[in-house]
Amino acid sequence: MATVATEPFEGQKPGTSGLRKKAKEFRRPGYTENFVQSIFDAIGTADLTQSTLVVGGDGRYYMRDALRIIVQMAAANKVGRVVVGKNGILSTPAVSTLIRKRKSLGGIILTASHNPGGPDGDFGIKYNTGNGGPAPEGITKAIFEKTKSIKEYRICKEVQVRLLQKDWIMTLYTVKAEFDCIGEQTFLGGQFVLEIVDSITDYAALMKEIFDFDLLRTFLSGGKFRILVDAMNGVMGPYASRIFCEELGAPAESVIRNVPLEDFGGGHPDPNLTYAADLVAVLKKGEHDFGAAFDGDGDRNMILGRGGFFVNPSDSLAVIAAHNQSIPYFKQTGMKGMARSMPTSGAIDRVAKEDHFSLYEVPTGWKFFGNLMDAGKLSLCGEESFGTGSDHVREKDGLWAVLAWLTILATSKQSVEQVVNSHWTKYGRNFFTRYDYEGVESVGANEMMEKLRTIVANPADVIGKEFAGKDDNRRYTLSACDDFRYEDPIDKSITEKQGVRFIFSDGSRIVFRLSGTGTGGATIRLYIDSFESDPTRQMEDAQVALRPLIDIALEISQLQKHTGRTEPTVIT
Ligand code: G1P
Ligand code: ZN
Repeated sequence: MATVATEPFEGQKPGTSGLRKKAKEFRRPGYTENFVQSIFDAIGTADLTQSTLVVGGDGRYYMRDALRIIVQMAAANKVGRVVVGKNGILSTPAVSTLIRKRKSLGGIILTASHNPGGPDGDFGIKYNTGNGGPAPEGITKAIFEKTKSIKEYRICKEVQVRLLQKDWIMTLYTVKAEFDCIGEQTFLGGQFVLEIVDSITDYAALMKEIFDFDLLRTFLSGGKFRILVDAMNGVMGPYASRIFCEELGAPAESVIRNVPLEDFGGGHPDPNLTYAADLVAVLKKGEHDFGAAFDGDGDRNMILGRGGFFVNPSDSLAVIAAHNQSIPYFKQTGMKGMARSMPTSGAIDRVAKEDHFSLYEVPTGWKFFGNLMDAGKLSLCGEESFGTGSDHVREKDGLWAVLAWLTILATSKQSVEQVVNSHWTKYGRNFFTRYDYEGVESVGANEMMEKLRTIVANPADVIGKEFAGKDDNRRYTLSACDDFRYEDPIDKSITEKQGVRFIFSDGSRIVFRLSGTGTGGATIRLYIDSFESDPTRQMEDAQVALRPLIDIALEISQLQKHTGRTEPTVIT
């Protein structure tokens, strides 16, 4: 057992979803150790010997080293038991599942989600609390404070972790003999237990409780209804193969890029139209009825229909909301309430209103849903950023969303496109788009945000003003603007500066915020949401329908002047 002297590193501030940095940064001697010790210090001095900590991640580069450090430091910080997925592999929703099932103190997730991996890519460490969800702001702030004054960390090198093998990840799910490492290893005279569990079993069992697997098996087996799932060489390959193919009988070729790779095969494991373009291209051939993709750690999802029909994540959430009673879990537990992050389109608001459910609007980041779920006020929620989930865990859950969609398709007997079209006919359509400007110079991005904040700080000067796009005669009158501020309805904590909003008299919204997950420069996100009740205009392309609002947003923000960018990196 050793206590090692150390000095603080600058900038160990958790963002929207944990601490994310270049893998190179985490590899600096003491960098990972400092942050991990700060987690232990922030969660307090309580007796941890009876506690369980769950640790796992998406298999990206540096995860093995981080895992070893965390296990050795957990032992030194007197945690009683650490539960690790086989060879460290656990999707983010699977970590949440295990934390809850084992009534753990919490968990540590090793991922940078959808950011690229490999030696030059990103890495991340996120602490989740005993409810299975990302640590709330109070805890992440406490962790950051600890990183600023840390003087020593504790590590126990006697705990030799034996789960790591050469070529571990490539062979992991193909060589059955390696399953023998599952089980318990005891150290320090019985004071510390390291337990290796199968990465999928508990998660798959939870899915069987939520969905009707018999119904889905009948729907998918033998490839009658053809699906194509792209795991993007992230953590989800083994989960998708086990659940869709082994459990539900879809043919083996239904899951592609299903081997987790340390660098995701050089790709960007982000399920959107830009980074999952290959999947979209295959779907366009018209040979499949349904397509889906996941991100590196398996919490995000993208849903596609025949011919590559794209379901906007905000619509996906609203559709699941409207069909919630076809999902056995919601039938049993009842629909307690719905929620979305602020920039997510108002499509779900229409369902909540029409069908009489309460609707909450929270800042960006899954951690803001946790309190509402724990208080029994929230069953279903999502974000425009391809995140959908429910209170079965406290993370968004990509595979859950796909099973929810398959359930809707199996019960409604409609195609993806028909389901979405009939949804718009019934509730109206919210056109939505997000423009991402990635890797912008921080100075320019901050200047732009400051200017926008100055505008909304003096609303009287702009409210009532009319705006129009360049070539369009549609006019929009500004009716409100602010920098989104959230008061948590449960613990009353306040979170400020969560996005600058311009709201027009017809309910259309323009939102600007800076990403809290990027690692290089700044990423500006521009969100546009506009409601269309006229059925004759609902089939329009979102980019066409929203053009005037996009022009207005670029004009108000002077984005090009501040950033030098004429085009976004990604359009959703
Ligand atoms: C992004 C998304 C946000 C999501 C987060 C973690 O955060 O916008 O909705 O919760 O990733 O997946 P951002 O980079 O915008 O701070
Ligand atoms: Zn993710």
